[in-house]
Amino acid sequence: MPALLIRNLAQVVTPASPSAPLRGRALGDLRVVADAYVLCAEGRIAATGPMSAFDPAVVPAKAVELDGSGRAAVPGLVDCHTHACFGGDRADEFELRAQGASYEELHAAGAGILATVRATRAAGEAGLEAAVARHRTWMLAHGTTTFEAKSGYGLDRDTELAQLRAIAAGGGVPTFLGAHAIPPESPDGNSYLDFLLAEVLPEAARLAEAADVFLERGAFDVEQARRYLTACRDAGLELRLHADQFTETGGVGLAVELGARSVDHLEATGDAGVRALAESGVTAVLLPVAALCLGRPMPPGRELVDAGAIVALATDFNPGSAFCESLPVVMSLACTQLGLSPAEALSACTVNAAHVLGRAGRIGRIEAGHAADLVLLDVPDWRYLAYHLGGEHVASVVKEGEVVWER
Ligand code: NIG
Ligand code: FE
Repeated sequence: MPALLIRNLAQVVTPASPSAPLRGRALGDLRVVADAYVLCAEGRIAATGPMSAFDPAVVPAKAVELDGSGRAAVPGLVDCHTHACFGGDRADEFELRAQGASYEELHAAGAGILATVRATRAAGEAGLEAAVARHRTWMLAHGTTTFEAKSGYGLDRDTELAQLRAIAAGGGVPTFLGAHAIPPESPDGNSYLDFLLAEVLPEAARLAEAADVFLERGAFDVEQARRYLTACRDAGLELRLHADQFTETGGVGLAVELGARSVDHLEATGDAGVRALAESGVTAVLLPVAALCLGRPMPPGRELVDAGAIVALATDFNPGSAFCESLPVVMSLACTQLGLSPAEALSACTVNAAHVLGRAGRIGRIEAGHAADLVLLDVPDWRYLAYHLGGEHVASVVKEGEVVWER
């Protein structure tokens, strides 16, 4: 692959502090270099800085050159929480919810997640691969260069494992969400977990990087979540939790107790939970699109940042609670609904999201030695990414030094 030189960029923007993850004030501290260049070689950033310091002698022969005039460059965005591998859709349910049906009622009636389970079981592995590829293209168009995706719509051995393989085949970071819901063929949560841990986990642990559980009334309780996560940790997986989405059910305490990578949602988390997270190494992953679409309170974003917790942002892209793959929309909501600054929002879906995926130090910054994953905007001010709700300013996306998407 030839080297890539992008010159005359109006701005090159990256989290300023070299440490990771970022907490407190450091989250909002960006380095913005005006009239700048980025040189990519062998998939990595070889050099970056102001044009005034650019040395043509360091550019390899046959490098491809791009003119960045009028464009701002930010790190490729990292979506650390999606459910991008599913069959079917839930447009009918969306219409019912618009008429007043609640997400939890639909779930209790066998719709919701279980409707997607039926469609995912019917899709076949090739169908799931096609779905991930399609969703990956949608994400790229919004500047996402790295995405995580969860299983959890199979709830049987073959489909859970097929989901994890399809996610990896589509370039995603796979998370085993076997404990997402209790499938109709299981009499209760405990017997489903017996099956999951004995029959699915051993192979899932070879395919996934992390495990996740839905800790909520109507799904799994704290004892069940502890049992599942402990077994997953013993099988070598990192731990994540869906918790405090509708009710505070002890998920934060469990995440801290088990040293989880993250606890995600937190719409119902109160002050004690905020303090516990601030004193821990667990990342709070906030998903404001899910709160918006379900008409729930927003998670306490400002409070978490001010208390010193590690905060990341993600889409939660899924066919039910958050059918939205756009991290720029998430950044916008973070600024207007969670009280974060645009700079905090950018760090939360770059370096801190990379940390959740165990990839800080490799992705999430425009820094020599990092993967050459960049988003070029068609405006000279990077803040348009958050400022323009629903705006389409992603002009091109570079992944490992190659232009992989252009408007
Ligand atoms: O993160 N809350 C649980 N799981 C997903 C939604 C999955 C679905 O509705 O299909 C979430 O919101
Ligand atoms: Fe989720």
